[in-house]
Parts: sequence; structure tokens; C-alpha cells
Amino acid sequence: MIEKSIGTDAQRVDGADKVKGKALYGADRILPRMAYALPVAATIGKGRIRRIDTSEAEAMSDVVVVLTHLNTDRLKPLQFVFAGGHGIQSFQPLQSDIVLYRGQAIALIVANTLEAAQAARSVIRVDYETASFAVELDSTGSETVNQSAALHHFPDFVAGDAERALTTAAITMDETYTTPAQHQNPIELLATVAEWVGDRLIVHESTQASQGLCGGLALQLGIDAANVRVMSPYVGGGFGQKNSIAPHTVLAAVAARRVGRPVKLVVPRDQVFHATSFRAAAKHRMRVGADSTGKIIAAIHEIRAQTSRFDLMPFTGAETTSRMYGIPNFRSAVTLVKLDTQTPGFMRAPFEMSAFFALEGAIDELAYKLPHDPVEVRIANDTHTDPITGKPYTVRRLTDCLRRGAKQFGWERRSAQPRSMRDEDGTLVGWGVAAGAYPVITAPTRSTVRLSADGTVDVWVGGHEMGQGIRTAITLVAAEELGIEPQKIRLTIGDTIAPPQHVTAGSWGTASATPPVLEAARNVRAQLIKLAGFKADSLPDSAQYGELLKRNGVSHLDGHAQWFAPGQNANVIARADQGLVAIRGPDFPDFVAFSYIAHFVEVRVNPRIPRVRVARIVSVVDCGRVISKRTARSQVYGGLVWGVGAALSEESEVDPRFGGFLNSNIAEYQIPVNADMGSCEVDFIDEPDLKLNSLGAKGLGEVATVGAAAAVANAVFHATGKRVRDLPIRVEDLM
Ligand code: MOS
Repeated sequence: MIEKSIGTDAQRVDGADKVKGKALYGADRILPRMAYALPVAATIGKGRIRRIDTSEAEAMSDVVVVLTHLNTDRLKPLQFVFAGGHGIQSFQPLQSDIVLYRGQAIALIVANTLEAAQAARSVIRVDYETASFAVELDSTGSETVNQSAALHHFPDFVAGDAERALTTAAITMDETYTTPAQHQNPIELLATVAEWVGDRLIVHESTQASQGLCGGLALQLGIDAANVRVMSPYVGGGFGQKNSIAPHTVLAAVAARRVGRPVKLVVPRDQVFHATSFRAAAKHRMRVGADSTGKIIAAIHEIRAQTSRFDLMPFTGAETTSRMYGIPNFRSAVTLVKLDTQTPGFMRAPFEMSAFFALEGAIDELAYKLPHDPVEVRIANDTHTDPITGKPYTVRRLTDCLRRGAKQFGWERRSAQPRSMRDEDGTLVGWGVAAGAYPVITAPTRSTVRLSADGTVDVWVGGHEMGQGIRTAITLVAAEELGIEPQKIRLTIGDTIAPPQHVTAGSWGTASATPPVLEAARNVRAQLIKLAGFKADSLPDSAQYGELLKRNGVSHLDGHAQWFAPGQNANVIARADQGLVAIRGPDFPDFVAFSYIAHFVEVRVNPRIPRVRVARIVSVVDCGRVISKRTARSQVYGGLVWGVGAALSEESEVDPRFGGFLNSNIAEYQIPVNADMGSCEVDFIDEPDLKLNSLGAKGLGEVATVGAAAAVANAVFHATGKRVRDLPIRVEDLM
């Protein structure tokens, strides 16, 4: 009999399968007669294809067909996700001779082997007509759009009168912080295996949004969504790159239909940089004013962020910066800059990573100006009422995160002056702090839990396992309620056979999937107790479940439940069934909800060649109840690695002469490796936030990285006395 699973340090339920290679990812499917597809990428920044000659490629042995705009199927339009559709962008390659950005797919080679497709790529001859383009935020030729005027769902965040209050502040600062375009680089590349069985399309994909793919593919191909099944049981890292339908998937489906064989399409690493969403470059002008006690009375957060020529990707960072502290007078404004790349958008904490580099840098600068301890300045400005709506927050343990983190880090031993802490060998030591927050968002879900007469349990619910541990979290909830070992549970997620497989993103996966699983399992539990003839709410011995069912002539017991957020109604489930986004948060009818984190960072900087090493990080998180301790901790470790990468190395390089992103490989797009990370200590407040859901879970995956880069930058300032407001911080910035 298992009494407790939730919150334990249980191992990953899929760990052994992954180690043994039994967990199948999108590209792991090898089907009989399968052909291999390889996209060909445009090599100009913008323009059109005057002529494309594929004859030599098509004459090669083992090449089956080369699809271009001249011979491929016409697709129905796809709407951008923020325009109410399924697409990570609206533009579909191969539908005309237009080239909108470097790296755009212009042809698709289908061959009997991957090697044949690769060989054919070099003999496709393209004659382009080039056009001028813009790839930098300040490029001439870019166009700007006022976000709140153009997108009514994405207003500015306003409280009080920030302009006026700033003029009365004793201490003010006005600085600009920039973060570059960045690309996620999951280990698993974008991958599709598409197969037609009669007029039914089956897609094995690495996606965070199987239902969205199902709905979007059906629309693009003009077929019934009931004839499309998408399976994505395991994803080798998503990070927002795979959270809506990207251009490659339909190309694989079209190619499979054309050649009458299953087709595998894996987008190569160099093409991934142009194949789908990435983090937009952004510039933040922060004006902050405080009184002489350190109470912040006003802030203005103005953002300039990139979007594409053809979609307006909102930048919503001020949704969270406006609520981080109790700033009574606040105003945000966003200018979107249309540039010639694919549509940017989602990359782990897509806006908050960048916005909090600015906010938490500004708070640090303010603390030095006052001067006050930067931890105390943050605590002095904590609040329990949302300054934007006036509603109360749900559980908000920001101050506890800061206090506990400070204690574990040993913050009281810090000497306040920059450049005042050194090792015996002269190495500069810097200690920095920053906090972060991320909205609590949830998605509608439905779950079925089935106990069968063989004693095993099936759970069907919406969710995608990207390595974050959602399989483990869901399984632990069902296991505890039914008093069984987690290994006895079979979980079906990421498969449109169990709709709605709502996109798993925005850190809402676990908090959305577990409440209906708990309720459905509770329902089965009640049936079990009744079947056993027990009066009290205590379970029979789990070893006897099968016997109990058989004795009563019952083949299985089913529990069903559905769940959606406070303020939503059952219509959102129908919307989610179509693969459309149907989320709610952080603003709910009676409260506002965020997750919180505090980071403490120690850096060491060689005084002569000022290379920054991160020696240690202590982070404390308030993410509500921790359901799966081990995977939660690992998720935060990952977020901290991302923070160090953002702070010190990651940048997708653009060049106005060439367009696109130039360092499109993981040798030149520098991600931290083990040797770049010092020690990481992670702790959780672990207080259930029961206003949100029956488990009290909030989000974790994204808040983990919010503020982390700022904490590194603040530590670099403390070590060196140099304030770098432009990420990443490089040796030359500190010379
Ligand atoms: Mo994630 S960037 O919310 O898919």
C-alpha cells in the first residue's frame, strides 16, 4: 500500500525507458518504405526566386522528388496563434516564389535515404532577385507598430500617474537595457514522421501542441481533423520552439501524400535557427523613482521588441514587471519593430527573461544609489495587492524567497562596496541578487482514470513530456489517490486520441493536467471503497484491487473529470478540442496569481583578463505545492543554466549585410556546459496555493530562469564596478 507519492523525491517514471531507448521520440519512428525529406533553405536576406533548377537533383539515384513552389500542393491559409489560429507564424513557405527571410525553406528534397537527400541539396540551382531587408531593431527600413493600438488584447499596464510621480521622486534612474535575439536549442531537433493510411494522416512529431498540430494540419490540408492523429509522447526539449504548428510539419505531410510513402523530416540544426520561433531582441528603457526611504513610487517601462513583417507578435513583459513590486504609479508601452525574419515569439519565459533583466538591473542600480541593501530594497517594495487591478494576490511568498535565499547564500557576509571582495589570489568576487516572477496560467483539461481487473491503471489527460517531468507529476497524483505504485500506471499524453491535448507551455502543464487527474482518481477511489463494502474513506489493499473487481464481475472502474480555470466556462474545452489556445491567467475574477523566485549569485572575475565565472547560485522558488520534487529541482537547475547562458554567452548574431542569423550552430551559439556552471542550490517554499486548484500547484518551468541573468549581471557589477546593460556580458565589456 502506497501512502504518499506527491511531493516525494520519486524518480522519473519514464527514466528507465529513456535510458533503455524504449521511449520513442518523433524521429525515432522508422516505418516500412519510409522516405527522407530535407528542406533547402534560402541563402538571401529577402527577395524572390527568379528560377529554381532541380533537374540535376531529381536525376540523382535515390532522389524521389523535389518539391518547390512550382510543383507542391497549394495549402489553405494558416492563422498566426495570436490572430486566433494554430500557427507559430502565418507565412507558409513553398507557396510562392517569395523569399521573406534568410533560411526560409524554398524546396523539399524527398529521397530514399537521408544521405541521398543531403547530396542532392548541393545541386539545386537557384537564381534570386534580391530585395533590401532589415534585421536589427534600429535598422533603416524596419517599420514600427504601437502594440496596444494594434493588438487590443495586449494593452499597456497602467496604474496612477507615473510621469507626474517621477518628478517628485528623491532618487531616480533612467537607463536602457537590451537583450539580443536568442534561440532555443533542444537536443531533439524539429522532427516529423508523416504517414497516410488511406485518407487518414498520422503524424509522429516532436511537439508541445499535438492538438494544435492536428487542427492546424487539417485546416492547411483542407481535411477533417477527425482524420488526423498526432502523437508526441516524448519531446526532447521544447522551450517554446515547438508550441504551435511550424512550417516543416505540413511539408512532411504533403511530401508523404505525394510519394505515397511515410516521410521523415528532421530539420537540421543550422536550419532550425530559421525554421520556427525564437526569442525576440528587445530594448527596455526603465525609469524608476523612489523616495529617500527606498520606497519605489513610480516606474515607466518602455519596450521596443522585434516581430516579423507578416505577424504581430506581442511582447508582454510588462504584464509581470508592473506587478513585481507595489509600485503605485506605473506605465508601460510597447513598440513592435517589423523585421525580415521568421516570426519570433516563444522561448522559455519569452518576455520575462528579457524584461526582468531590465527591471532587476534597475532595482539593483537604485539600491546602490540610495544606498540600501538590494535584498532589503526588494522586500521593502513587496506587496499583497496587485497595483494594476487592485485585486489580492494568491499565495505570494516573494519576501520568504529572498530571506531564505539570503540565509542559505550567506548574504550577511557581503561587503557592499563594488570591487571590495577578493580572493587571496586577487580574483574579484561579486555577489548579486535578483528576483523573478512568472504569471500563473492554466489550460482546460479533461481526464479519464481507469482501474482494470488486472490491477493496472490507465490515465488519459492532456500534456506533453518535454523532459520537464510532467509524466512523473501526473503519475504521482494518480498513484497517491489510488494507493498504488507509480509503475502500475500507464499514462497517455501528447496523443490526440485523448483530447484535448492543449499546448503545454507557459508553465501551465502540471497545474492544468493534475487537477482533473486527481478528481477522476478520487472518483475511482470512491467506487473501489464502495465495491469493497468499506464505510470510511480508506482503501482496500492495493494488491487485492484486481481480485476485488473480478469477484464483483467488474472489468474496470472509470473516473472522468474535466477542469478549467476560475472565470472560464465549459466552452473553453470545446475550443481546446480544436487545438486552439484557451488559457486564463494571471488575472482571475477574484485574484491575481504569479510564481516567484529569488536568485543569489557569486561570480569570480580575473582582474586582468576579466572573464566571468559563475561560482555558485542559490535560488528559492515559490511555485505553490511541489508535486514532483526531483523533476522540479531539475527544472530549476535548467532554468539557472539558461540564466547563465543569457547573461554571459547566448546571442543569435545578425548582420545587416546578410540577413537571418549567422551563428546558426551550437559551436558558435554558445550555451553553457557543465564546466561553465558552479554549484546550484535550489529550495522550494512549497506552500500549496489552493485558490488556484485542488493541488495548490502553480507554474515552475519559466519562473526558474526569470531574473537569473540579472542576478549574474548584478554580481558582475559588484565584482567589477562595471554596469553592463547589454546582454550577453563579454570580456570586452569589462576591459
Ligand atoms: Mo513555452 S516558451 O511557454 O512554450
